[in-house]
Amino acid sequence: MASTCYDGIGELITNVPELGDGSPLGVRHDAAVLVADGEVVWVGDRGGAPAADERVDVEGRCVLPGFVDSHSHLVFGGDRAAEFAARMAGEAYAAGGIRTTVTATREASELELLGRARRLVAEMQRQGTATIEIKSGYGLDVATERRSLEVAAQLTDEVTYLGAHVVAPEYVDDPDGYVELVTGEMLTACAPLARWIDVFVEDGAFDADQARAILGAGAAHGLGARVHANQLRPGPGVQLACELGAASADHCTHLTDDDVTALADADTAATLVPGADFCTRSPVYPDGRRLIDAGATVALASDCNPGTSFTSSLPFVIALAVRECGLTPSEAVWAATAGGAAALRRRDVGHLGVGARAALTVVDAPSHLHLAYRPGVPLTRPLTKPPTPAKRR
Ligand code: NIG
Ligand code: FE
Repeated sequence: MASTCYDGIGELITNVPELGDGSPLGVRHDAAVLVADGEVVWVGDRGGAPAADERVDVEGRCVLPGFVDSHSHLVFGGDRAAEFAARMAGEAYAAGGIRTTVTATREASELELLGRARRLVAEMQRQGTATIEIKSGYGLDVATERRSLEVAAQLTDEVTYLGAHVVAPEYVDDPDGYVELVTGEMLTACAPLARWIDVFVEDGAFDADQARAILGAGAAHGLGARVHANQLRPGPGVQLACELGAASADHCTHLTDDDVTALADADTAATLVPGADFCTRSPVYPDGRRLIDAGATVALASDCNPGTSFTSSLPFVIALAVRECGLTPSEAVWAATAGGAAALRRRDVGHLGVGARAALTVVDAPSHLHLAYRPGVPLTRPLTKPPTPAKRR
């Protein structure tokens, strides 16, 4: 089996406390990592690795686990730059904007959707993201939701069925009829392609009862739950996610004390997507400090989508989380790696312990602090080849 030693690492972020300085990041200075057959097989001191077929000297730079982006909507047609510009001129964001993208997505061929999504995946990977979750949700009819998931499944193993993004335009006067479709024929068509099911719980999208029915139907088809929760105002999304044991409650911009307590007590990650708060010009950002202090598991994700967060950059999200959400630079790096893995219930990514997937990202800087310290500077790139979805292996 082919092996490579990444040597001369100035600062290695392992996310395994005992492999490093005992902190959650498990920081180790002057380190080396040996990978073989796509896995980390040894972590130790610079120059001390067993013999390898190839040796790569990273010349004192910082190396971390590839980012885990646990929330994205990469399958879509059309463009909403004008809507963004209008928001920057003072217009408010409303969930209904999703329907603009729905029209364009339905008109796009599978090849067009795949080409666009593939370019966005490549854009993420170039910046050091190794694991990517991709949702449907811009089809809202059986054929287009299925087509979207077929596209997503060619690009990742973390595929999420989001038929319940908003009520489809044909059903605006019959939302319960749409819930029936999402939990019936559409679910049957989509479930074999997905690992997860997601619901946008919000005024203008779905209420708690509808979400409960949708996530319950998904569970009966073996899909794990995720929830778009408390994005635009306080609401029942977070509590529902925790009650149902969802892997993650995403956005979490408007939380009550009870929501924070529920997240701290549950096995549900709080995934913050401050890129969306930035791009919607939200008056508030999620309070990550409060969540971490309460004991919740916090993840950071891009929420890359054409409406509310058209960024593919986790370094940008890290910088925002530090500046606006109260995370320390170290907490933000943990949240974009180990936190993302927790939000996807993955043990093989988000850390660099022995047995982890060989997904290494290098920072062109001596320390992970530079990710927040040098916002907007393209410092990160992958050291290892991006993973291939299992279905294509
Ligand atoms: O995560 N909140 C719901 N869904 C997306 C926005 C989708 C859109 O406006 O196109 C989000 O922000
Ligand atoms: Fe989203």
